[in-house]
Amino acid sequence: MEKRGNIRRLNRVVLVPGPFQGHINPMLQLGSILHSNGFSITVVHAQYNSPKPSSHPDFSFLPLPDTSSSAATTGEIIDFALQLNTDCKARFQECLAQVMRQLGPYDGIACIIYDQLMYFSEAAAKDLKLPCIIFRLGSAAVSLARDALFQLKAEGHIPFPESRSNDSILELYPLRFKDLPIFSEKLENFLQLLSNTNNIRTSSAIIYDTVDCLENSLLAKIQQQCQVPTFPIGPLHRISSASSSSLLEEDTSCLAWLDKQSCNSVIYVSLGSIASMDVDELVEMGWGLVNSQQPFLWVVRSGSTLDAQWIEVLPQGLKKNIDERGYIVKWAPQKEVLAHGAVGGFLSHCGWNSTLESICEGVPMICRPCFGDQKVNARYVNHVWRVGLELEGDLKRGEIEKAVKKLMIDEEGEAMRENAKKLKENVKLCIKEGGSSYNSINRLVEMIRSF
Ligand code: UDX
Repeated sequence: MEKRGNIRRLNRVVLVPGPFQGHINPMLQLGSILHSNGFSITVVHAQYNSPKPSSHPDFSFLPLPDTSSSAATTGEIIDFALQLNTDCKARFQECLAQVMRQLGPYDGIACIIYDQLMYFSEAAAKDLKLPCIIFRLGSAAVSLARDALFQLKAEGHIPFPESRSNDSILELYPLRFKDLPIFSEKLENFLQLLSNTNNIRTSSAIIYDTVDCLENSLLAKIQQQCQVPTFPIGPLHRISSASSSSLLEEDTSCLAWLDKQSCNSVIYVSLGSIASMDVDELVEMGWGLVNSQQPFLWVVRSGSTLDAQWIEVLPQGLKKNIDERGYIVKWAPQKEVLAHGAVGGFLSHCGWNSTLESICEGVPMICRPCFGDQKVNARYVNHVWRVGLELEGDLKRGEIEKAVKKLMIDEEGEAMRENAKKLKENVKLCIKEGGSSYNSINRLVEMIRSF
């Protein structure tokens, strides 16, 4: 609390983001909201995927000297996260002690806000008697689905046979078994990680980057089950004025290309910062986009295609067609792209940030979930919010072409396009003064001031 004279001021908040693009962005956005409410911000981060301090001159940054800095591909993420937590607890405690020493006698840490993936933070905070708050990345639906996994496992429902993939799970309706946010290939390690990340231990509250109008009843259910307050304060990217926390260089030349396209004509394609595809899928994707006859902006990350550096593996005939109709970049300024009037659809892996960013711009989606929470998000996009459709099964050019046409021009897609526009307006109301997220942020700020 801000106090005068010789009384300690506890107005520093320590943030501990998870070391992935989709985790860093919302945490730094939260940091900028808290900063604009008068808090000083220190970001303690892993060295792997380190955020760029120069992009956030108002924050202090302290790297954890972690040892587990090997690249984390999709399959390695679980073990990487477990190892990171083992490596970091003692080091984090040293970092906190360092921050406290530097602050001097009249300044102090109000609380620690940590990404649930960085659960080592809680133990260190407890040892130093500092309050902490969990930041649960992802939707409320994902949170509830993850909680339910232990019961489903105990009842023998997971792992599940292929024949049950399409069966609904009553308590998680409308999710089916195949939508569950699990990593089947590493189930035991995954459940171990989940039990660590789900445990709120001595944390004082839970923050969600979601919006009441999207998940009202699910958020109420979570609050009922929780002994601590929950704060749905999203969409953070919309509320915060944080500058880009992109780890890769954004190729802004695509904005000039978009300027030349007609309104709502472009399909934007990106599978986020982690997902990858094989060469055959890349080629099918290319032909599907070309054959749809719609202009397209396609993000192909360097190294995201297995067994290829970039797009050198695309056949010449396809490349020629792409040059006529499309534009490829290694990384895009995604929020600006989605806000551009020329973009009328988003073919996405449905990472939670991408999903929220698309909803906020009223852009309907083709969902191509790859792993984890993305499957739940995709189900909600097409079955609950009805602002998109899912591209299931093997990636085939004919299916991609059909999906793009349906989303962008066919009459069949009209309802999705209309729903997307309405949802955008509903989210706007939640952010406005007096809206649910606006109020939730105020309650959160009050709570931190009261520590
Ligand atoms: C990860 C997980 O994979 C995802 O399932 C989880 O929900 C969040 O953490 P990621 O796969 O990177 O995230 O996807 P997403 O959540 O969509 O985050 C990607 C971020 O990178 C978005 O904020 C998006 O705007 C940004 N981005 C993506 C760019 O700035 N440029 C691009 O070209 C692509």
